[in-house]
Amino acid sequence: MAKQEDLFKNVISHAKEYGYIFASSEIYDGLSAVYDYGQNGAELKKNIKEYWWRSMTQLHQNIVGIDAAILMHPKTWKASGHVDAFNDPLIDNKDSKKRYRADVLVEDYAEKLLQKAEKEIAKAKKRFGEDFDAEMYKETNPRVKRYLGDRKEILERLARSLTNEDLADVKKLIEELEIADPDTGSKNWTEVRQFNLMFGTKLGASADTATDLYLRPETAQGIFVNFLNVQKTGRMKIPFGIAQIGKAFRNEIVARQFIFRMREFEQMEMQFFVRPGEELEWYEKWKETRLNWHRSLGLGEENYRFHDHEKLAHYANAAADIEFDFPFGFKELEGIHSRTDFDLKAHEEHSGKKLRFYDPELKENYVPFVIETSIGLDRMFLAVLSASLKEEQLEDGNTRTVLKLPAVLAPTKAAILPLVKKDGLPEMAQKIVDDLKWDFTVQYDEKDAIGRRYRRQDAAGTPLCITVDHDSLDDNSVTVRFRDTMEQKRIPITELDALIRKETDFKTWMRDFSN
Ligand code: GAP
Repeated sequence: MAKQEDLFKNVISHAKEYGYIFASSEIYDGLSAVYDYGQNGAELKKNIKEYWWRSMTQLHQNIVGIDAAILMHPKTWKASGHVDAFNDPLIDNKDSKKRYRADVLVEDYAEKLLQKAEKEIAKAKKRFGEDFDAEMYKETNPRVKRYLGDRKEILERLARSLTNEDLADVKKLIEELEIADPDTGSKNWTEVRQFNLMFGTKLGASADTATDLYLRPETAQGIFVNFLNVQKTGRMKIPFGIAQIGKAFRNEIVARQFIFRMREFEQMEMQFFVRPGEELEWYEKWKETRLNWHRSLGLGEENYRFHDHEKLAHYANAAADIEFDFPFGFKELEGIHSRTDFDLKAHEEHSGKKLRFYDPELKENYVPFVIETSIGLDRMFLAVLSASLKEEQLEDGNTRTVLKLPAVLAPTKAAILPLVKKDGLPEMAQKIVDDLKWDFTVQYDEKDAIGRRYRRQDAAGTPLCITVDHDSLDDNSVTVRFRDTMEQKRIPITELDALIRKETDFKTWMRDFSN
């Protein structure tokens, strides 16, 4: 655990040192759970967005993208259920005065039981070797059985209490499990209360006539209210999808995990409209498609798992998270929800307008059902950053810090380095930059010895270094150094374009995973 905490601290300090993430308004001591993206962070974030956007819209002929406003008519949030039900159950510790999400305290407790069971299973696997049957062991080993059984029971009871809005039972569960304040160990808790997460604001100049508005807590509703606009103007036929990337705002109670849980963040959401009755088939398909998208980035298959929801949101008939192994354990990265026809029907009711599709094959009008895929852009950023940051032991006994970002996402694709700052090498390197900059984000760097420049680019995440030396003047070739393997190879300058493209292109990364 201590090792994981260290890793997380390294990620945060590395993100600052290399211009990825800064605390918002840092000169005023920052603003809690709000962050700014620096020069490298803005590029990485843009590249993640593009990777998602292109795989959704460009690779699917039946998905189009929109960009709806953050401010929406206030009735939107009544219809969606956010005014009445977008709450988190919170609990305060009377001694430490710290506030927590009651459900998260219980979920963390349950996660520890799972970790204990997994530790036992790993130990037994080592002991029994090849023939070990993990499934059988889970069912027969009393200790593992107890851990897993307790975990299941706890999560089911939590889900039941939250569905029934029985907050007294959530408190009772916390007491029965003897859950203590993670920071201080105190078990002196208040009652559990509901807390609405939406930020309010006002539209209009004078106090008496101003309208109360909300900053949108999810981008999805901008898609629902535009469903018919897009369907009609785009002549879309069911099944089809609408994708969107944009800011969302939530007044989170507990926001202590860097950019994992922010008050201002971005979502990449897609609503896929299908025939009623076909939604669960599409739900399974989208689970697979989205997991493949993650796998394409090569951050490690073992870092992902599905978590099927026990407690379903008011709008869903099936839901799962893709969880990622962050430095603080497996947590939700993306949600895939079968949202039924809840949203479109609710908007029909509240607006008085029909939101139906005439299906020419069925010769029938209906309100489509919806599968939603929803991923937090900042959370994806954290997943990429934390899985990429490595401390490597080198053969010569030194260590190097290297940010092994998927090359397709890297802020700078190649650094162009003259070996020395004289003899015409800077001019030749600059000429290479001027040729490549039209197609790739490249950087010229001539400061310090070449070894230090390599290390600096490794730590910043640049996948390729291109060194211009004295031989280059004669043979028009350069040395290319690969970040991950530190291998070097000599190639003609005329082949640079093709090499960078092969290493960093969207098609190279996504092609084998597109479905
Ligand atoms: N439209 C559905 C929806 O908003 P959600 O599970 O509340 O569902 C979807 O959010 C995704 O948005 C999450 O999986 C997560 O990646 C991201 N997200 C949610 N709240 C966040 C926050 N406070 N900070 C950063 N990302 C957040």
